[in-house]
Amino acid sequence: MCGIVGYIGSNDIKNFLLQGLKELEYRGYDSAGLAVIEKDSMQVFKAVGKIKNLEEKTKDFKTKNFGIGIAHTRWATHGKPTELNAHPHLGEFSYVVHNGIIENYKELKTELEENGYNFISQTDTETIVHLFEDYYKKSKSPFEAFEKTVSKLDGAYAILLITKAAPDTIFFAKNGSPLIIGKNEKNEIFFASSDAPLIGYAKEVAYLEDHIYGYVNKEGIKTFLEKEEKNLEFKPLTANKELAQKGGFRFFMEKEIYEQSRVISETMMGRVKADKIEFEEIEEGFFTEIENIKICACGTSYHAGLSASYLFERLSKIPTNVEIASEFRYKEPILNKKTLFIVISQSGETADTLEALKMAKNAGLKTLAICNVDNSSIVRMADRTILTRAGIEKGVASTKAFATQMMVLWMLSLYLAQKRATLDKESISKEIDSMLHIPKVLVVETSLHEKIKRLSKRYLHGHGFFYIGRDIFYPLALEGALKLKEISYLHAEGYPAGEMKHGPIALADPELFTIALMPKNLLYDKIKSNVEELSARDSTILAISPLEFDIADDFIKIKEYNHYMLEYFEMMLIIQLLALEIATRLGNDVDMPRNLAKSVTVE
Ligand code: F6R
Repeated sequence: MCGIVGYIGSNDIKNFLLQGLKELEYRGYDSAGLAVIEKDSMQVFKAVGKIKNLEEKTKDFKTKNFGIGIAHTRWATHGKPTELNAHPHLGEFSYVVHNGIIENYKELKTELEENGYNFISQTDTETIVHLFEDYYKKSKSPFEAFEKTVSKLDGAYAILLITKAAPDTIFFAKNGSPLIIGKNEKNEIFFASSDAPLIGYAKEVAYLEDHIYGYVNKEGIKTFLEKEEKNLEFKPLTANKELAQKGGFRFFMEKEIYEQSRVISETMMGRVKADKIEFEEIEEGFFTEIENIKICACGTSYHAGLSASYLFERLSKIPTNVEIASEFRYKEPILNKKTLFIVISQSGETADTLEALKMAKNAGLKTLAICNVDNSSIVRMADRTILTRAGIEKGVASTKAFATQMMVLWMLSLYLAQKRATLDKESISKEIDSMLHIPKVLVVETSLHEKIKRLSKRYLHGHGFFYIGRDIFYPLALEGALKLKEISYLHAEGYPAGEMKHGPIALADPELFTIALMPKNLLYDKIKSNVEELSARDSTILAISPLEFDIADDFIKIKEYNHYMLEYFEMMLIIQLLALEIATRLGNDVDMPRNLAKSVTVE
């Protein structure tokens, strides 16, 4: 996701900005830029691709005096990764960098265009700088103009704005996207999206809360909340960079599990409206004449696809078939032009998925990629793409990418239900209400994590794990088993609960651990009978359910919801944490498990 840095002081501004951007590289980006005001001169540089391209462009630019600077790495959401779309965005006399998504940018842009403003980028961000300048022209007060601008923005943002109208001031605002202010005894003030760029520069930092805005200049920092001045709480900054990148978590995977609540809001942003789903990236007619869907993917992404097939059939009433990409490639599949071909991939580079996509394209099918990396090979090849917006995923075992894939697929099934009128308005509103609840469901409660930590010590041995579920909880069971295998190296299988009696139940004994996904809202009685059968044969049962279940050896209670997808997401969180804690106790390298690679670019 995008990253921001900012600086005010008398040291080498350019150097801090470039070093800061490098520290934010781990967040993922496809272009970068910086803007500096020193004395009266305002300079801007932008480059597509790596930071070194920006370094190259700025090599003759020197900064020595007091000045201010802002910089940005961009992970494309609105508009392609081009220089024009890279930040900082320019008005007539101001620059802005922004992380997040301005949901109401279209309305604001139309109004500004009517008032004679020209937009040169495809981004939502450019609206901010024109809006600011428009208000400034009326009030002649940069702060008032900034305050008013921020009050007009809906959505998520961390913003830094500089302007010739106040050449020694950086204006900032934060809502939903991270922003940190740092300071030191040399009167330097720094901004960044995470701690890492500030280490070695700032002594103390304040983590801004949502809706805070203000400005910094030579006199110091002024912050406001709802027009009232508010003091910030500064804390000493850690000196350990690796720890800072991990945000204090033991592993990137753990951090990424905790991030799910936030990134899933970004996935929904601008797409989930009060009573409908919208995908700006796909034109109206794209889905017409589609009679069925085929999904191809690998690993965790395949599990998302398999889960989606239940949603496409149940909600959008479209026959859906899902295939593992490496199987699909060589089976001489019969392809039909009325089939929508969906590929799902976190990296966008998985060789088997890419080949499957090529085959579908060559056969003349409409193709859609659900992907986390813009401009990846899969994105470039597919007719259309919906980006999942999970931000870079560092842990090899996929967590937040899966969560965001599932959210996109759920949104897409509702979008198609809208288009095909397979659900009435009331049912769509109900689905959307549940959807909007997911960020809350994904907040990791300390008590839950502690319970899983405690339980994990009982699951370090045995001759195997069966994760079982029915309906859409079956692919979730597959995903639970895959997470455990990948990082704990214990044998685990996912199974449809109803299939156990057709063979696998022969393995049941106390050393066989059954992880049972038992939602209240979908086939509870059926899965209950399946678990009872396993318990009667002495398998050790860990039940995950909102309903108490006496015969389970261990029980993790989830909250009571009225929609199975809320249960799905909470159980997803639990199986991820369970795998993490078992692997941690076994002393494994959770982020880089043996034999695995993050991006599988060979078949
Ligand atoms: C498992 C995992 C892998 C990937 C698979 C496909 O945690 O990450 O199974 O899901 O290699 O990768 P992408 O989604 O990048 O195509």
